[in-house]
Amino acid sequence: MILSITYNKDYKIFYLSNEECTYAFHIGDGGYLHHLHFGGRISEEDIRYLSRELKTEFAPAYNAREQYVSLDTLPQEYPIYGMGDFRETAVLIRTQSGNRITNFKYKCHKIVDKKPQIGGMPSLRGGETLIVTLWDQENNLQMDLYYTIYDKQSAIARRTVLINMYKESVDILKLNSFSLDINRFSFDKICLQGGWAKERSIERTPLSHGIFEVSSTRGSSSHHLNPFIALCDRNTNEDYGEVYGFNLVYSGSYSIKTQVDQLGFTRIGGGINEKDFCWKLKSGETFETPEAVLVYSEHGLSEMSRQYHRLYRDCLINSNYAYKKRPIVLNNWESTYFDFTEKTMCDLIEKAKGTGIDTFVLDDGWFGSRNSDTAGLGDWFVNTAKLQGGLKNVIKKCHECGMKFGIWFEPEMVSEDSDLYRAHPDWCIQVPNVTPCKSRHQLVLDFSNPEVVEYLKKAIGDILTENDISYVKWDMNRNITECYSLYLNAEHQQELMHRYILAVYALAEYLTSTFINVFFEGCSGGGGRFDPAMLYYFPQIWTSDNSDAASRAYIQYGTSMCYPLSTMSGHVSVCPNHQNNRVTPLKSRMYMASFCSTGYELNLNSLTEAEFEKIASHVRFYQSISDLILDGDLYRILSPFEGNYFAELIVSRDKKKAAFLLMKMSARTNDCYPIIKLQGLDENSHYEVEGMGVYIGNVLINVGLKFQNDLNDFETICLRLNSVK
Ligand code: DGJ
Repeated sequence: MILSITYNKDYKIFYLSNEECTYAFHIGDGGYLHHLHFGGRISEEDIRYLSRELKTEFAPAYNAREQYVSLDTLPQEYPIYGMGDFRETAVLIRTQSGNRITNFKYKCHKIVDKKPQIGGMPSLRGGETLIVTLWDQENNLQMDLYYTIYDKQSAIARRTVLINMYKESVDILKLNSFSLDINRFSFDKICLQGGWAKERSIERTPLSHGIFEVSSTRGSSSHHLNPFIALCDRNTNEDYGEVYGFNLVYSGSYSIKTQVDQLGFTRIGGGINEKDFCWKLKSGETFETPEAVLVYSEHGLSEMSRQYHRLYRDCLINSNYAYKKRPIVLNNWESTYFDFTEKTMCDLIEKAKGTGIDTFVLDDGWFGSRNSDTAGLGDWFVNTAKLQGGLKNVIKKCHECGMKFGIWFEPEMVSEDSDLYRAHPDWCIQVPNVTPCKSRHQLVLDFSNPEVVEYLKKAIGDILTENDISYVKWDMNRNITECYSLYLNAEHQQELMHRYILAVYALAEYLTSTFINVFFEGCSGGGGRFDPAMLYYFPQIWTSDNSDAASRAYIQYGTSMCYPLSTMSGHVSVCPNHQNNRVTPLKSRMYMASFCSTGYELNLNSLTEAEFEKIASHVRFYQSISDLILDGDLYRILSPFEGNYFAELIVSRDKKKAAFLLMKMSARTNDCYPIIKLQGLDENSHYEVEGMGVYIGNVLINVGLKFQNDLNDFETICLRLNSVK
């Protein structure tokens, strides 16, 4: 293991290195930190020439000795506001006098083996950590920059902590988790953009001068732009070329900005969204930012993704579940929506008996007066008009049929038509005398109010204590509007978005640590909150409400950019599809749902006998590859965003086993025969390719497999590969 953080006193350079990469920066003459390198591993050389002062006429100088030396021309590690660097800054703090200039300079540093976790927020575990302390003499403010490096991963986790040592409070208007100046600019940027039912589509465009931002102001990381961006060389592809990935471990309103300047530097920085954000930090108080995960790959996008996947499985997702076989669920949502009784549920469970499905999940509609989406949210007690025997009879039926039981909650919401709202109308986010926007007829609970969170701990906790429940689906179906709390004082109102998500984390922490045997799945109107922070609590997340197999090819391909296959929940659903009316072969729906954490949304009672019989064989097939889904290395082979095929290969770490999935997006008459080169296999091992014979690895990699040219629309081929000698 080569893992080291060192400080060279002569050069004043910090080096964070492992076998794969080095991250280096130095303390400049002015006491400011200047970035030097993030990329392939280097030895401890003097590379200060990278931040040599550049002479630029008419630039404000901070250095009396040299009237041309401006912070605007130097690569910064954590750029400050108003001292001559006119680019995007990482920090903006206002003191009580109205001053916004904070002159943070190096004070000291320490290296710790045991990484300090962030208070009240998810972050990666483990890794060696460098903490550099900066000090603003004029305002008595301390800033700690945290850098964590992991064994073998080409990744650095960063975050920032501010401590107010002054006798008065200050307002934090912006405090980035990270900032990075890269001394080149000819990048492409890759974002995961989308919307409901079309989450995380890959969009790649050239980076240009000026500022570009991916962000959310919704109080959630959103369907629309994932808190992720990659910067890559113009000729980088899946397997070749340099790429930097940036992913925030945060689920609230966030921002990541890139800026290309006149000298050809690219600055990138991000964290909590500064829009409508102001955190009052009292004397003696500390503020911690979320963590950002920076990954470097010199072998293309697939390798960047594999780095994220390994890091998140090893250091982020709950270690009790990260590599544990996932429940194979039957969820009743699309087969019944709100219209069900105890008998309907018991009939569904009975039908699933013996298929291999191991968990039945009762979705929305089991509580309060929830007969449609207009009522009942917040009333977390059983609707006995629908379920006459309470949950007990349904759970009993599950057990009789050899299954476990799971249940749906939407903890953060309240319906106006609910007992909870009638008792506590002041418990939702609202501005007095302003009619609140409704979204899905519901309002958002004010999580900054501790009473609200206590109520939910008790209400949800009671259901989980009183019933044998092994799985919870935590949904969240609207964003925050009229951002105002009746609980907070005026001076804390602009803290609400961040306080909200901190309290969501606190509730998730309480429930997941109290009910350790319950498997929690995240959800937000599909995949509207699919981010690393959610993965800390929820080892898998409902990827999208769109479970049409063809749409899923795009959604799952895009999501895999930073999230492992096992974290994506995907179900086989009915045709015509409820979201887009498309008809796809059952085999394609089953195979696409096999390249994630699988389950069913089908009404088993309305399947034909032939269709029903396929369920058990699909479960068996899934079980045969589930270890690959949990632990394998993903190779994205063909992108549906770029051509007519989706192809992915997942290879076991020992390279003895693999699974390959191909989907043709659109049939073409007299089409070319696709010859597809595989990757990640052992060049010298022979593999039995299911139904196709035995091939040596170097042939599969360098020549490829030849497939039929007459596949129909959305037809799939899924192959298992096993090394035979
Ligand atoms: C949105 C989710 O994405 C669906 O799967 C389902 O749980 C509904 N909410 C229930 O209201």
